[in-house]
Amino acid sequence: MRVAPTKIETFRDDFTYSNSEFAIKRFPFPFPEDDYMYSVNIEPHTLPGPVGTVNEHLIDIDEHYLSEMRERGIVLEENPKRCLAMPHMDLACWDMIDRCMTTMSEDYPDYFSLTKDGDTWHWHNKLLDQQDTFTFGDSSTLSLPPMEYIGRQVQGDFALLDQRDGDLFMDAGIVTCPADWSLAFDAGMSFKEWHGPVPMAHELGIFDRALKYLCAIQVNRPVRRLNWTLTVNARMDTSPETYPQWGTDRTTVTPENIGEKIHLRVELQVLDRMPRSNALMFSIRTYLASLEDLCSNPEWARRLHRVMKGLPEPLIEYKGLTRYHPMLVEWLSQFDPVN
Ligand code: HEM
Repeated sequence: MRVAPTKIETFRDDFTYSNSEFAIKRFPFPFPEDDYMYSVNIEPHTLPGPVGTVNEHLIDIDEHYLSEMRERGIVLEENPKRCLAMPHMDLACWDMIDRCMTTMSEDYPDYFSLTKDGDTWHWHNKLLDQQDTFTFGDSSTLSLPPMEYIGRQVQGDFALLDQRDGDLFMDAGIVTCPADWSLAFDAGMSFKEWHGPVPMAHELGIFDRALKYLCAIQVNRPVRRLNWTLTVNARMDTSPETYPQWGTDRTTVTPENIGEKIHLRVELQVLDRMPRSNALMFSIRTYLASLEDLCSNPEWARRLHRVMKGLPEPLIEYKGLTRYHPMLVEWLSQFDPVN
């Protein structure tokens, strides 16, 4: 294995999270140009992708696996509503179990194994030291509801979208590390409804075009896109529900600590059609890296400066950067000869 889960790290309190050199090297840096603006940045997720990259497998398991699974457990303990599935999404939840278990056991045979005898399945998660035999499709044979059962063993947040009347509805999900949005609030909403707060993109027709594209996704033809924001400290759970715990973090940023405190938070989002239910599985795999670590790469450092300097005002505000944005641009300018 090139990427092995390591010791348990924290994403709260003392923030012991850190990236190895390899994790920084494979970080999905989201800026192909010096300018950034929303676009329909969707492309085929052709598998397997280049060896060692985050795009190699459908589900990317990396050195933070054990830490992220522990963090997910803490969040679900505090607020069980971070995982919900409407009754009509039951089949989609089983589709998710199939897709995750099948690909994880094929892609990481040292870590996961799956054996099937008709509907009797045996799953062995060697990383979490967990083994279960269950009847596929029968929730009474699992210790947890199907989406929570598998969601507690896979890095990244997940939403399962029901497709009807040419639209998508957020009718199930397990979301414990969102970039400031709430599953409980968005549950049952349509594609444009849950994207309501996003500035500029509606006017540019981005959501109209994206929705058409998504509704046409075929089985075994997943697509992907990257999304990004900035987060103070290596905090995974920046949800509205826990805002009192992290909202004031923004006031702690200074010119001395900004490189260490501010983290680029990149979401590798994959959309995958489920064969039985016709639902779309939407995975949001979050990667965090401090600016200091990212700026060890001179090209990334220069580009970050240019992107942040030119970021449209409505995006600065929507992404919650207003308070420290001038300080950020000033700090990044040290890496850019043209500033
Ligand atoms: C169907 C799967 C998708 C789901 C479940 C989803 C969900 C979300 C949610 C919950 C938000 C936060 C909105 C808020 O502020 O409350 C968001 C933001 C956003 N979404 Fe999506 N989205 C999906 C697909 C897409 C696609 C295909 C696009 C592409 C064109 C897109 C573009 C965006 C953009 C530009 C933002 C603003 C992000 C930022 O500036 O940080 N989304 N999405």
